[in-house]
Amino acid sequence: MNTMNGYSIYNNISLNDCTENMVILDYCKFNDKYTSMDGATIKWLIHHFNGTKAQVIRDNKNLELETVKIKQGDTLVKIFQFPTNLRKFTVVNQKLLKELEFRGFLKFKVQLPQKTESKKLLERKRSIHALNSFVGKIDRNNTSREDGTKVIESFMDNARNGKVVIKDIVHYIDDFMSNSSPDVISAIASLKASDQTYAHCVDVAAIYQKVYFDIIQKTGRKSAFQSTKHAILASFVHDIGKSQLPKEILDSTTRFKRDSKEYKIIQSHPAKSMELLTKMKLDDLTVNMSGFHHVKVNTEMESSYPKIDCYSRLEKETKLLAIIDVYQSLVGKRSYKKSWNPASALRYINVLAGDEFDLETWEEFYESIGLYPVGSLVRLSDDSMAFVMNNPEKDKKRPQVSIVRNAKGQDLTNNEFIDLRYEKDLSIVKDIDAQDVFEDALGVFTSLRIS
Ligand SMILES: [Fe+2]
Ligand SMILES: [Fe+2]
Repeated sequence: MNTMNGYSIYNNISLNDCTENMVILDYCKFNDKYTSMDGATIKWLIHHFNGTKAQVIRDNKNLELETVKIKQGDTLVKIFQFPTNLRKFTVVNQKLLKELEFRGFLKFKVQLPQKTESKKLLERKRSIHALNSFVGKIDRNNTSREDGTKVIESFMDNARNGKVVIKDIVHYIDDFMSNSSPDVISAIASLKASDQTYAHCVDVAAIYQKVYFDIIQKTGRKSAFQSTKHAILASFVHDIGKSQLPKEILDSTTRFKRDSKEYKIIQSHPAKSMELLTKMKLDDLTVNMSGFHHVKVNTEMESSYPKIDCYSRLEKETKLLAIIDVYQSLVGKRSYKKSWNPASALRYINVLAGDEFDLETWEEFYESIGLYPVGSLVRLSDDSMAFVMNNPEKDKKRPQVSIVRNAKGQDLTNNEFIDLRYEKDLSIVKDIDAQDVFEDALGVFTSLRIS
């Protein structure tokens, strides 16, 4: 939305949202009849839209031309610059709405006096503004994520050589709290490859902060942390015991077999984390999270470590960390296996909830993160592809999305905002791995211009 001469302009408004006396500036989405148009359709268009301009795709090129110059086989993209004598096609009333529906015109750019803005359109305007501002924060947050990656790597390198200095981590977390947004870093985590140790710690801490405090707010439970900073620190340092492992094992891109010596060494990291954090005089909750985040509900499972006999030794906060740790590991691309998209990672964990992960904590996590976490790429029922931008309400299947590639496979520079709660003729049909579709998925997400 933008404003011109005291009028509000809205893009991509569907017929359902058109109200009396709105003025249509452009027709911008059409049904299949206007794809590779036949002679009869063109004749009708030329007759009724004499004097307007059209944008069409011809031979894979976008052309702007007089409507009279449309040719058979062209695909209509837009009709615009209506002359004043065409008011019957631009000023909205019930008769026009019926006609537009009958003719297969689906979306419009409209103008209306500000005082007549409806609640729904105002909500749409606010959402678009908030999402563009969200996208605008990605670069800064990505830098902060990279800084965090370096801080934890340098801490681990020093600790390996016997120098344990937590000062840099504490400084980084102060900086993280003033300059980063857990929502934005969580979205970056859905879109960007992560290593298995350092960026992993930053992503886990961001997702943990976002989800934990959301759960606290929704359930009304009291936070077990003294402060937000305490929660970030505890999740950020959860794998710190990896600093006691040989670097070549830690940074290896090989997937170690379950019975290998290296695998056993990796499994020793939670115990080493507990030792190190206790020595550093960190609190019991932080120590519990680092020591037990790989313990499964069924403690006898081979993948449950360290070997303890009682799952109840895990704090509730540790049970949540166990889920987020696996979720991030699946979504962050590992060099030895294919990455998972967020929705498929959630489906995988859902199958294991109960046996491996605490069921109640899983349900709280899932309630918070949604079926399609922000940054997920999805295919819609009209064959276009969209990024999930927000999960505003209870219906997890119908988030707010922004179209990035249209049904014809063209990448867009202006990205249509769709609130699936209201656009009932569209739905999500598939989740896709953004990193499979785009070489630089984060770059594509950062370039979104939502309207
Ligand atoms: Fe771990
Ligand atoms: Fe971890």
